[in-house]
This record gives sequence, structure tokens and C-alpha cells, in this order.
Amino acid sequence: MFISETHLPQVLTPQDYTSEDQYRRELEQLFLPGWHCIATFSDFPQDGDFLTIELLDHPLILWRSGDEYHTFLNVCPHRFARLHGEPCGHAGERLKCQYHGWEFDCSGNTQKIPDAQSFKPMKKGALGLTKYRTETCGQLIFVTLNDEAPSLREYLGTGFEIGETLCGPERRLAATLDYEIDTNWKCKVENSLESYHVDMVHPKTFIRAPEEAECEHELESGWTTYATVQEAPTAWHRLLDRIMNRLAHGESDDEYKHYHFYPHTMFGKMKLFSWMEWTIPLSVDRTRVIGKFFCYGGRSGRLVSRILSSRLAKWEAGFFEILRGEDCAVLEEVYRGLKAPNQPSEGLVSIREERCFHFQKYIERVTSPEAANSNGVAMAAGS
Ligand code: FES
Ligand SMILES: [Fe+2]
Repeated sequence: MFISETHLPQVLTPQDYTSEDQYRRELEQLFLPGWHCIATFSDFPQDGDFLTIELLDHPLILWRSGDEYHTFLNVCPHRFARLHGEPCGHAGERLKCQYHGWEFDCSGNTQKIPDAQSFKPMKKGALGLTKYRTETCGQLIFVTLNDEAPSLREYLGTGFEIGETLCGPERRLAATLDYEIDTNWKCKVENSLESYHVDMVHPKTFIRAPEEAECEHELESGWTTYATVQEAPTAWHRLLDRIMNRLAHGESDDEYKHYHFYPHTMFGKMKLFSWMEWTIPLSVDRTRVIGKFFCYGGRSGRLVSRILSSRLAKWEAGFFEILRGEDCAVLEEVYRGLKAPNQPSEGLVSIREERCFHFQKYIERVTSPEAANSNGVAMAAGS
């Protein structure tokens, strides 16, 4: 059942999705103070591997050294070149700048300067890389650009345990979806918060939106969830489900559950699958979405289980790719509509979309002028 009994107002105005000022407030209040998942362990198969990413206008380089992960501003302290330009690669034991070859260790300290004599006098360790706090949850690697941020565990609150469970070491990374859409980041988030569009946008992929009696919402101050139990539609599919569960030796049920920890961290689970999705605003009207999809890993030593796990991974990758295409097409249309110079109404939110209303109230609260004077990170926390 839903929590609201009557329809709800659309809280945010079209300008809240399209204005540069509102976007800047959201960056300051929500994103810059918070934690962001930027990779998983699978992105670093070898010690010394690195990955580069643009996060909120900050070029970052994330580097594995032993079993630890370190994030730096991807800018050299010598004359500001990006250390590496490729999306990923292998740096070995030290990060080395591609321009003049300065080398840095995992603390960001300069370890080698070619022709160091020509910089005299210079104190040892005078110039180093800017380092950012990096923490992990399950297989997920998070970074914050804010030195004052609480620990990742505190920031995510209940979300930390959910992340550890759904993206834990026994899961196998099945697919990564990494794409950009011409829409405001909130449009993307709201799309994931309601099942109302399912019949129209995903008629073949989801078959039908569940009835109200089959749905359960939780609405808390920093997070919301949606759960439903959906058995496979036919007896044949139900039998297949049972066989798959038995072969995979996984813990599976028919519950679909979706979690949103404000502002932009989402987890989900469905049968033998789980996923994590995060939304990175690139500008007011462009958004990057990265999804990491996991399936049950298969018991080591059990061939059938491992083969099944690999089939599941393929199926999962294909399924979420189709969903992505269906949602992206309509989200760009939503954004075009929001930019129209006048609107036919103030909008209206159904009880099925109450998570969108809750999210919009949160945005309104944390980007208000009073909130600007307090510590945004506390309000962004999922506790
Ligand atoms: S700019 Fe990096 S070594 Fe010169
Ligand atoms: Fe969708």
C-alpha cells in the first residue's frame, strides 16, 4: 500500500530543474559535501591499476596500491598537466606525470623529479598531489571532495549495510552501464522513484506495474524504499525461477526492492540480482549515470553454479541495457518539456509517485536559504 491517501502537489517548479542558480546551490549543498561512488574493485584487476574520472568539475585519478585505493586530483603540482589522460591504465608502483615525469607515491608525495638539480633550492616533499579521502563499502569505492565529511558509514547511514550486502564480495560484477543523458540529474533520479511510467515506457520489459496492494513504500528523512513481490508471470517461468535458484544455490526471493539514499545513491535487488546506481550531474542539463550490476557469484568448485552465474550475468547486462534505452529516450523529452517558456499547469503527483514528492520536499528543504547557512552534509546523510 502507498502511504499517502490523496494526490500530492508537484513541489519543484520547472525552473528548479533548468536554472543555473538552483544547480549551483545543489552542487554546494548536496554534492560537494558528500560521498560519491566512483568505481568498484573489479575496475582494478591488478595492483597499480588506475582509473580517471571527472567528478563535479574535479579531474580525479583513483589508483590501487596493494589492497588500498587512493584518490588524487589528477593535476600535477609541477605545471598542472593531468598526470594521465586515459580513462584507465596501469601505473605500477608510482604515479608518473605524462609531461616531465615527476613521480608520486601513495601518499601523494613527490618521490622523483627528473633533473632535480634544476629546481634548487627546493625542499624535499615541498610539492605533492592533492589527496582525497577514499573509503569502501562492499566492493564499492567512494570518494569525497570534502575534508570535513563524516565517515562513509555515517554518511550513508542504513545505506552502508545495504551496500555491503547487495554489493558484497560474494557477488559477481555482471555489467557496468555508464552513459550520459541530456536532462537534469533530478529528472533521472525521479524516474527511478516511481513505477507509474512502467506500463507506458516498459510494457515488454516489466509486463505490468504492480497493483497498489502489492507495493510497499518507506519514506524516511534521508532515504526512501519501494518493495513489491512479483512472481514470474506464468507457471513455466515460475518453474524456471525455482530451477535457477536451486542450481545457483543463491538466496533468492521474489521481492523487488529499490533504495534511494539522498541525494544520488541507489541500490536495488531482484531475485538473484542486485545493483548500485549513482547519478553525477555534469551541468544543469547533462547527467552521467553509472550503474554497477551484480549477480550471484556461483559457488566456487561447482561448475553448474558457475556456468549459471555467467549466463545470469549476460542476461542481466542485456536486460538493464534495454531498460536504460527506454528510460533515456523519455527523460530527454521530459527535459525539453521543462524548458518550455510556459507550462499548462503546476503539475500533479499521484500517490504511486509519492517517493518523487518526498524527494522534491528534500530538495526544497536542503537548498533553501536557511539551509545554505548550515552544514549541508548533515542533511544529505542517509541517516
Ligand atoms: S607538469 Fe607534471 S611533471 Fe611537469
Ligand atoms: Fe524506467
